[in-house]
Amino acid sequence: MPKTSTSKAFAAAFGILTASVIGSIVTMIILYETEIATMNPTPRPTLATTTMAPPPIMRLPTNLVPENYRIFLHLHLYSKIIEEVNVTTPNQTMLFTGNSTVHFYCAETTRSIYLHSRDLRVYDPLVKNENTKKNIEISNMKHHADESDFLEIQLTDKLEAGMNYSLFLAFKGQISQNLQALYLSTYNEGFPHSKDNTERFLASTHLQPTDARRLFPCFDEPEMKAVFDVSIIHRENMMALGNEAVADSGLIDNWEVTHFHPTPKMSTYLLAFTVSEFTPTPSEHDRVKIQIFARPEATDAGHTQYAANVTGKILMFYEKQFEISYLLKKLDQIALPDLSAVAMENWGLITYDEGVLLYEEGVSSQLHKETISYIVAHELAHQWFGNLVTMKWWSEIWLNEGFATYMSTLALDEVEPTFKVRDMYIMHELHGALEQDALASSHPLSVPQENIQSTSQIIEMFDVISYYKGALVLRMLADAVEQRVFDKGLKMYLSAFRHGNTDQDDLWGYIRKAVVDDGGHTDVAETMHTWTNQNGYPVITINTTTGEIDQKQFLFNSSLDSSFLWHIPIRVLSNTSGTSLVWLKTRSAVKDPFISKHGEWILANVNCTGYYRVNYNPDNWINLLSQLESNRNRIPVMNRGQLIDDAFHLARAKILDVTLALNTTWFLRDEKEYIPWESTVRNLEYFVLMFDRSEVYGPMQLYLRAQVKNLYSYFRNLTDNSEIPVDHSLQHNQITAIDVACSNGLQECIQRATWMFDDWMNGNDTNANSIHPNLRSVIYCQAVAAGGKKEWEFAWNKFQTSSKTSEKDQLRKALSCTKKIWLLSRYLDYTLDPEKIRLMDVTSTINYIATNVAGHGLAWNFIRAHWDYVSQGDGAKLIEGVTRRFSTQFELEELKDFATKSDLGAASGAVDQAIEQVKVNIQWVSENKDTVLEWFLSRTDDDI
Ligand SMILES: *[C@@H]1O[C@H](CO)[C@@H](O)[C@H](O)[C@H]1NC(C)=O
Ligand SMILES: *[C@@H]1O[C@H](CO)[C@@H](O)[C@H](O)[C@H]1NC(C)=O
Ligand SMILES: *[C@@H]1O[C@H](CO)[C@@H](O)[C@H](O)[C@H]1NC(C)=O
Ligand SMILES: *[C@@H]1O[C@H](CO)[C@@H](O)[C@H](O)[C@H]1NC(C)=O
Ligand SMILES: *[C@@H]1O[C@H](CO)[C@@H](O)[C@H](O)[C@H]1NC(C)=O
Ligand SMILES: [Zn+2]
Repeated sequence: MPKTSTSKAFAAAFGILTASVIGSIVTMIILYETEIATMNPTPRPTLATTTMAPPPIMRLPTNLVPENYRIFLHLHLYSKIIEEVNVTTPNQTMLFTGNSTVHFYCAETTRSIYLHSRDLRVYDPLVKNENTKKNIEISNMKHHADESDFLEIQLTDKLEAGMNYSLFLAFKGQISQNLQALYLSTYNEGFPHSKDNTERFLASTHLQPTDARRLFPCFDEPEMKAVFDVSIIHRENMMALGNEAVADSGLIDNWEVTHFHPTPKMSTYLLAFTVSEFTPTPSEHDRVKIQIFARPEATDAGHTQYAANVTGKILMFYEKQFEISYLLKKLDQIALPDLSAVAMENWGLITYDEGVLLYEEGVSSQLHKETISYIVAHELAHQWFGNLVTMKWWSEIWLNEGFATYMSTLALDEVEPTFKVRDMYIMHELHGALEQDALASSHPLSVPQENIQSTSQIIEMFDVISYYKGALVLRMLADAVEQRVFDKGLKMYLSAFRHGNTDQDDLWGYIRKAVVDDGGHTDVAETMHTWTNQNGYPVITINTTTGEIDQKQFLFNSSLDSSFLWHIPIRVLSNTSGTSLVWLKTRSAVKDPFISKHGEWILANVNCTGYYRVNYNPDNWINLLSQLESNRNRIPVMNRGQLIDDAFHLARAKILDVTLALNTTWFLRDEKEYIPWESTVRNLEYFVLMFDRSEVYGPMQLYLRAQVKNLYSYFRNLTDNSEIPVDHSLQHNQITAIDVACSNGLQECIQRATWMFDDWMNGNDTNANSIHPNLRSVIYCQAVAAGGKKEWEFAWNKFQTSSKTSEKDQLRKALSCTKKIWLLSRYLDYTLDPEKIRLMDVTSTINYIATNVAGHGLAWNFIRAHWDYVSQGDGAKLIEGVTRRFSTQFELEELKDFATKSDLGAASGAVDQAIEQVKVNIQWVSENKDTVLEWFLSRTDDDI
């Protein structure tokens, strides 16, 4: 949800390095960003200053229980503007009208009805007692002028407990043009290369979390589940899709009325419909009719085929896994030109940003298939976790998002076993969550309901903690109680609560039941509360001399005190006696025999099943590092990556020497696996950000150039011929090799990139691009970085004329790689013009520019000057992106100043986090600069 910014960037990308610009850093694309982005709809203005303070309680009273809605919605939108010779204004209208009748049960006698409505003109209310069929007189109807969005209807007579009532309301509203609620999406007909660029229109909905109330007045809370019986009235040349299959349709006065079957009982945020001219591609399933919808041209060109290939398989995998069939008879997925999220799991009608769902043979990167499977698997998992069983309130959104994230890696492995990328995705989630959760400003997975009330508070819950930490603590529990026991508990949980709402203790109860049935003792709730009710996570320290283990909270700011304790399952591997599971439930445990009895090394958190970091006594670190250098395969590949990540983060928190962290990268000279390289590049990215404006940078580049030489050579034959390896993780690493080598000045790499780009630029047919799709992103960026105006203009021209989403995304990113200030500055100005850079792409474009050391200062000035416009995207992401390099007192003051002056809306949490991070950066630089410089100098006086 986060908003808009989901940008297609994502699409381009898992594994496609971003930042080439910034020194060698290969960054995997951040999945939660996209989802989050999707989940973070445009921040809404806070009303605090303009209206009276919101009431303390923004929750609906529970005295009325909605049961079903009969809804008519009439959209006047045209799919195409029809120009009449003498009509100057376009014949298009955003108006929608409608009416709804909600049937509800009265649980407690009352004289007023509260429900939600926003941005709607509501009229003609009628309340009826459905038992007696008598109307009840209304004395007053008013909208509350605050963030509650309450529509209050006062009655002259009481509604009696135990009786059934109905409320009819007619209403009017506008289709929104900023991707919220019921919104307009546009695209050009004549894709891909036609000259006929007729603009086409469609309408879609995106209601999570609180926008159902902008479509029709309703009880807009996830626990107020009901049946929805929907009819859409629209132009006759268009087709409506809804959550359910069409029951009947017909023409009335030139309007087509599409009436859908009633939905299952579900939450309001899952309601969806689209009105478009899109066409379907079927996906195979033995019972469910699955179709993938896209613009007709994309369907005809086969771009929906990959999604169609995997969707049916994923659905069947979940049905088998959960032993509960998908509930509906149909499942539509639609690739939308505009969506404020990566995707949205509406029951039976999943919406996707088309960049995420479409795959173009010969144009899309092979790696994009991973993204498609991963996101489709995420959304399909929600059909159970979220749609069938829903969290009671948004304060526990992790029960939706954590499960969907957890399940999607399992499904990915099932549907594309040859990709072998599950470990890579898990490591990605782990690093994302551990990073965020080491800040004191992080939040627990489960928050008290009363702390989450306003829409902006709700939106802030859709973050890396809910998505990734949620998934990882589930994975840790599954490992601790055994996968088969965990799976059994989940089945019981889903089955017990189908169509209902839950909180975490409902889940722990069923997993506990499975544990007990299996003869186990783990107190699941007690253990898991230490992970879900407090924020953060521990670092455990293992002392192999004494056999002692202890724990304390891991915080970047190590001066903060914490008394939190966790119940930690620790998988330990020793070089002589295999693995063992050790529990640490107190501050420290003395002399675990398994740990103390060995002379050589001990490795804890085997395969990274635990959500914590590990530190060791110096001797054990040294033994582990020599093992890595002599025979690294004795250490599982996930741990090779994690040792590096832990060491760097412990150093950042001043628990470990920064030189020890740097030493963990020494073995990479011979490493070909992606996970350790990714870990290194990501961790050194912080060094790049902190030092690329200083004298440390030269020696650092020399070191990295030396480290990456073998890796670059390993792929050279392939790269020189624009070919790729078979294995997906090696495909990722080929890109890393090019990115690191070129960004750190390996001449043969820069030359190769320049030649490849030149070939394209100078070809007779510039539509014929011989650069392999996997390599395009990194080659474009490196060539633009090495080039000047000519390369930039060529890329810009290609960006503007290409109708291929993935190509556009790669070019949009590459354009930020130039070293020329004037080009970057002009590029920033382009983000203000939606004809040049679409609003949904503004956040990521500015963040790309800020990542480039040459564009960092420009971007900061720019967002301050144009905050009102640019924050319509994802303001939080923008702040996070633009302030990443901040490491001086002056920059800190500027940021604080910005915080006091601007109306930050949903970005205010991000600004607080940024301020905290900048303080940490300032201190870190002052403490480490000299040591780091010396270390790099000492490692680089030899070759190159
Ligand atoms: C506008 O065009 C219509 C036909 O489309 C014609 O009947 C009408 O007279 C025109 N009006 C003017 C003011 O030209
Ligand atoms: C333009 O809109 C008006 C009002 O809805 C309608 O009467 C007219 O027929 C439309 N013209 C065309 C060409 O669709
Ligand atoms: C609700 O809207 C539908 C479609 O416009 C209309 O047919 C119906 O009469 C309306 N219901 C009432 C009670 O006005
Ligand atoms: C979809 O599956 C078919 C049949 O297995 C295969 O031939 C085709 O290449 C697949 N399409 C894509 C884009 O993977
Ligand atoms: C490990 O234990 C030994 C013996 O008590 C102690 O001297 C040493 O400082 C400990 N190391 C760490 C890292 O705690
Ligand atoms: Zn989700």
